[in-house]
Amino acid sequence: MSRHAPAPAARCALRRTVVLVGLMGAGKTTVGRRLAEALGAPFRDSDDEIAQAAGMDVPSIFATLGEAAFREGEQRVIRRLLDDPPHVLATGGGAFMNPATRAAVRAGAVSVWLRADLETLVERTARKADRPLLRAGDPAEILARLMAQRHPTYAEADIVIDSEPGAPHESVVERIVAALRRAGALRAGA
Ligand code: S3P
Repeated sequence: MSRHAPAPAARCALRRTVVLVGLMGAGKTTVGRRLAEALGAPFRDSDDEIAQAAGMDVPSIFATLGEAAFREGEQRVIRRLLDDPPHVLATGGGAFMNPATRAAVRAGAVSVWLRADLETLVERTARKADRPLLRAGDPAEILARLMAQRHPTYAEADIVIDSEPGAPHESVVERIVAALRRAGALRAGA
């Protein structure tokens, strides 16, 4: 290699794509970005990819095309992303509820449920008004109902990590990395 060749890109530590699942406010995007950085891996967010494909943001998709169209797009986008080289993929809270998506994730990736308590979810989701499902009533009631509906399915994820209130993101990232190593999802030496 020439002395002037650019430094090789940091090697991605992942053998498989890591799919983050969990409710709105669990920290999938924030933790996902940091996890990707720690692993030298690309980061993708399924909501962003759907918005890009549709040419409008998520609330506009819900408002103009409806939730069913959003869910179709979500399934398609995640299926496509799972064919990409290993990366960290933050999914929207409803994505893992789709049986076809769950099967595709199980077949080709490793899933991580970021679990948080109701108070934490309510507090974190109150910071932004970009979640159409939470505009339909009292966010705490809606989140409590979604917890009851979805937690049994999120529990099918390969790895479960608690995202406690006040826990620094670094400690959540460290626990995910350790669990990925135990699950054989990291390259040797990573
Ligand atoms: C949804 C969660 C949102 C987004 C959409 C629907 C859900 O993503 O996909 O508003 O059904 O829980 P986040 O979980 O990233 O907020």
